Amino acid sequence: MNKKIAVIGAGNVGASCAMYLAEANLADVVLVDIIEGTPQGKGLDLTQAGPVRGYNAKILGTNDMKDIKGADIVIMTAGLPRKPGMSREDLLNKNADIIGSVAKEIKKHAPKSFVIVVSNPLDLMTYHMRNETGFEANRVFGQAGVLDSTRLRAFVAMELDVAMTDVQAMVLGGHGDTMVPLPRYTTVAGVPIGELIPKDRIKAISERTAGGGGEIVKLLKTGSAYYAPAAASVDMCRAVFCDEKKVLAASAYLTGQYGIKDIYIGVPVVLGANGVERILELKLNKSELGSLQKSAATYKEHLKIMGY
Ligand code: LAC
Repeated sequence: MNKKIAVIGAGNVGASCAMYLAEANLADVVLVDIIEGTPQGKGLDLTQAGPVRGYNAKILGTNDMKDIKGADIVIMTAGLPRKPGMSREDLLNKNADIIGSVAKEIKKHAPKSFVIVVSNPLDLMTYHMRNETGFEANRVFGQAGVLDSTRLRAFVAMELDVAMTDVQAMVLGGHGDTMVPLPRYTTVAGVPIGELIPKDRIKAISERTAGGGGEIVKLLKTGSAYYAPAAASVDMCRAVFCDEKKVLAASAYLTGQYGIKDIYIGVPVVLGANGVERILELKLNKSELGSLQKSAATYKEHLKIMGY
């Protein structure tokens, strides 16, 4: 296998990314962490699962950022996760420092890579990563919309007892309390959910989606979700490597779309071999557009706190 994906952070999200990447036979994986032994141990463990699970990906665990050399994609998962009672924004300063130092290494060792940011607060860390690497905006994007949408898809499927894979959904806005689930753009095999689920239940499902990460933090008590975030990240890697032109929600750099600019926020994009190839501008109604702009305004404030 000659494609290479570097996963920064060998915690639960990073290790799950490595596992799903290997299972998808997408690329060789370099798993990096500052904690001695952890990436090496998890890398070896995943390698030993290969013969049984039927993959041949090489998985290297390392503490040395030099090993990301030549990576085609870097998935940035490092950073502190939320504890119960914390918002994603509470992680701001600490994780911004981590992004800053990793960005330097990415610039040095993988200057042609695409960077998928998973660390929280997602939209702010993606902005920071783009700024610190100096990469073109199409090469740096955040994984949040696929996660938030897959949560909505799962909740709709659970509500109706239908195949999860038949549900399509779109969640825009920031990856936080201001996210904007779009029931109007959510369908089951093409049928809008408004025809299948009563209004009050749609509202409840949308609210559960917006609090979906927090629900898991509360249950786990010691950290946040990782299977779905990792699965969502791997989906984005496939879209890039296979030039799928996949339409999905991602945190992307806006230059005036939806009346918003100079910010990263969740919008529908076309993801292909050039990364974020296009941003799709949906005809949002007044309330949907208002929610998206309100979400963006919150992040503008946070960017100011970060010195932007
Ligand atoms: C979540 C975290 C990872 O939404 O942001 O689960």
